[in-house]
Amino acid sequence: MVWQDSARRYNSTTMPRIPDETVQQVLGATDIVELIASYGLDLKRAGGDFKTHCPFHNEKTPSFNVSPGRQSYRCFGCGEGGNAVGFVMAYENLPFPEALRKLAARSNITIEEGEYDPQEDRRRRRLSRLKLLHNQAARFMHSLLLEDPGAEHARKYLKSRGYDREMAGRWAIGWMPRNTDVFLDWARDAGFTGKELLHSGITKLREENNPRSGLWVRFGDRLMFPIHNERDDVIAFSGRKLREEQGGGKYINSPETPIFKKSNVFFGLHKAIRHMRDYAVLCEGQLDVIACHEAGVKNAVATQGTACTNEHARLLKRYTGSDKVVICYDSDFAGHDAAAKAFLEMAALGMDVRVATMPPGEDPDSLVKSRGPDEFRSILEKSSEFFDYRLRYLGEENNLDDPGTKARVARDLSPMLHAVSDKNAQEASINFVATRLGLSPDGIRQAVVDAAKRPSRRRDQKDDPIIVESTPVDRELGVLAALALQSHEVLDFLCDQTEQVLIGAEGREGEALLRNILSTRPNVPNPAAVNTFLQSLSAGDRATLLTLLEEPTPAAPLTAATEILGILAEQGILQELGALAARLKSPELGDDDSKTIMERITELQRIRSEAKSP
Ligand code: CTP
Ligand code: MN
Repeated sequence: MVWQDSARRYNSTTMPRIPDETVQQVLGATDIVELIASYGLDLKRAGGDFKTHCPFHNEKTPSFNVSPGRQSYRCFGCGEGGNAVGFVMAYENLPFPEALRKLAARSNITIEEGEYDPQEDRRRRRLSRLKLLHNQAARFMHSLLLEDPGAEHARKYLKSRGYDREMAGRWAIGWMPRNTDVFLDWARDAGFTGKELLHSGITKLREENNPRSGLWVRFGDRLMFPIHNERDDVIAFSGRKLREEQGGGKYINSPETPIFKKSNVFFGLHKAIRHMRDYAVLCEGQLDVIACHEAGVKNAVATQGTACTNEHARLLKRYTGSDKVVICYDSDFAGHDAAAKAFLEMAALGMDVRVATMPPGEDPDSLVKSRGPDEFRSILEKSSEFFDYRLRYLGEENNLDDPGTKARVARDLSPMLHAVSDKNAQEASINFVATRLGLSPDGIRQAVVDAAKRPSRRRDQKDDPIIVESTPVDRELGVLAALALQSHEVLDFLCDQTEQVLIGAEGREGEALLRNILSTRPNVPNPAAVNTFLQSLSAGDRATLLTLLEEPTPAAPLTAATEILGILAEQGILQELGALAARLKSPELGDDDSKTIMERITELQRIRSEAKSP
């Protein structure tokens, strides 16, 4: 007995083993329905599943069931069942590694078998502990959301967004208690160490570099959205604010950890992966992804708190059998800008990119709620080829018949045309743009060649430094400028309060930019109008504003703007009052001068008191 046991142990550690990741990758790339059908079994639809006569025993009525959702099969007659590898093992009577190799070959995956490496083994164990922690934490927080008396407000909020219990269950949504000790106690009782809690990113040290300072939990009193990898493991969290006065952003995401890299994670991929053969839908936020899936659009994913990176594009290309993606972003300026960036990445890989345009002010989540899933799906079906979409968008606020505008639009499009790596597709798009603008294809082609010489916005090539230096602006002025370009109310407000704005901005970096916005007064938040305005700026100012516009918008922009302006104006007034007081003391002051100064002081005091009483 002893001998046999140690032999087995010896075997299991020295035999070359197929890494877990590879097994999961092969399973992820296999569709069990297609696999079983490929063996000639005649699968008939039965509800969401498929049925046929069991190949493992003789029967008259079909009791062999294949579930695309669970990616498994089971015979209710003989009890045989399992996943795709299990099917190949049973049907072809093969051992596990051979069956897996067969499946891998179908999906063009190469299996590399590593030697046993103790260091690698430890690393793998640490990673699986982190995943275990995330999975169990998600389950714990889900049960708190459903049952904890302290989570009443979270349940109410979720309900107000149209989620019932089942839906919250399908997405494993949870609640991190306001008293985060509840979470820490749970984690310790469940056997997780402080080190593991730190590495998970769910907590951090109260004081940086001071291990004795204790653990601080990032997500106190937030609605918790688990982020899964494509194999269904929870690998991170995104927590949404529940109360207006709560500190931190609207969403807080886990930091990067050994199991979570933002540049290659998609929210919703674990569910979408089996539905992306025809095409994928790329959304902006997790609530949009959930809304899509619940509306029957099961091929939707979103990047997690970042723009679409080159890696994201590669992954989408790998997962979609067709290389087709429909972008479905918000129809605000940031959304159009993000769509252009995502296009640059995907077109460079030869992918086919379409855009579904949401009505102004809507995102998929709000649209499904306001107009229903049918209308949302029909907008998706009416998605346009990228350049068709972009020209329509630019045409909203620009007169495309005007020769100067045509040239500017051609210049806007040329880097995107340049990015199209498939030469035939590029030719077709150049001709399309030329026809729409009434310009010669040769002219557009020249613009594309010129675009190749200009520095591109893609920053992934190391020898392609960012040439455009942002103009430095004062933080407060920059935020005001960005708010004014995002919110009509803020722009109106600032235009009404010109006196305060001028005093508050006086002498600060960004003064001219803010004045420019107020005097131009673009038709905010119409994205095309904002775009036109941005195009009229110097490259440096534009770069500055684009960075600011990428930051999350505060929930109440007008309140934020009022506060900032109040502080700026107060500082400006105090500064000027100080300077005037100093001048009054000067011995060479004439009567006229001192009268003017006194008048200005009175005026400043008036502005100050008006600023204080709203
Ligand atoms: N996001 C983020 N941090 C923020 C704001 C947003 O990481 N402070 C990410 C989130 O992944 C979010 C996505 O950007 O899902 C889109 O942001 P936004 O459109 O502002 O959020 P919505 O999905 O519309 O969320 P809600 O409807 O709750 O406002
Ligand atoms: Mn939303």
